[in-house]
Amino acid sequence: MTDTTADLGQQVFRLVYRSHTTMGSANRPAELEEIFEVSRRKNHDLGLSGALLVWQDTFVQVLEGDEARVRELYATIAADQRHQQVETLDEGVVSARAFGRWAMAHVSDDEGADLPAARGAEATDAPHATPRLEDRRQEMLLDLMREYADPDIRPL
Ligand SMILES: Cc1cc2nc3c(=O)[nH]c(=O)nc-3n(C[C@H](O)[C@H](O)[C@H](O)COP(=O)(O)O)c2cc1C
Repeated sequence: MTDTTADLGQQVFRLVYRSHTTMGSANRPAELEEIFEVSRRKNHDLGLSGALLVWQDTFVQVLEGDEARVRELYATIAADQRHQQVETLDEGVVSARAFGRWAMAHVSDDEGADLPAARGAEATDAPHATPRLEDRRQEMLLDLMREYADPDIRPL
């Protein structure tokens, strides 16, 4: 697990991209499982965190951590034949991680996902509690990812 407290006072590089899967529906679940397994291990080792939203044929992924490591991994991911039309939506230095608790959160409406792709499905059982800043940052990024899952939404 990435230690987010180590980011205090440090800058974090964040990259967001969108792509479309080339995987056929038959082998997609197994392939995705493999992608998440490898991603979690490798991202953890690299001190990277992030989230991968899977919605229909579309991926939206957030990668955050050291800039050189994020860029190097992104080059590897962009060359992966299991998706295509990889387009960078946003990149830059931010003050803190949004997904610091995840090496790679699985965002989808599938069983076993870490976070829901459907908006509003994350209503908490403590609606009156003030969300922690970290949780709000994560929610804001999640909402942005959900917007970007719509192909009509163009990067700013
Ligand atoms: C949509 C998508 C997202 C991916 N995300 C990651 C990721 O976050 N981290 C990662 O290590 N690999 C990710 N991969 C897999 C990489 O493309 C690559 O297969 C993996 O890092 C192993 O690379 P290596 O054999 O060069 O170490 C992703 C692949 C796809 C298709």
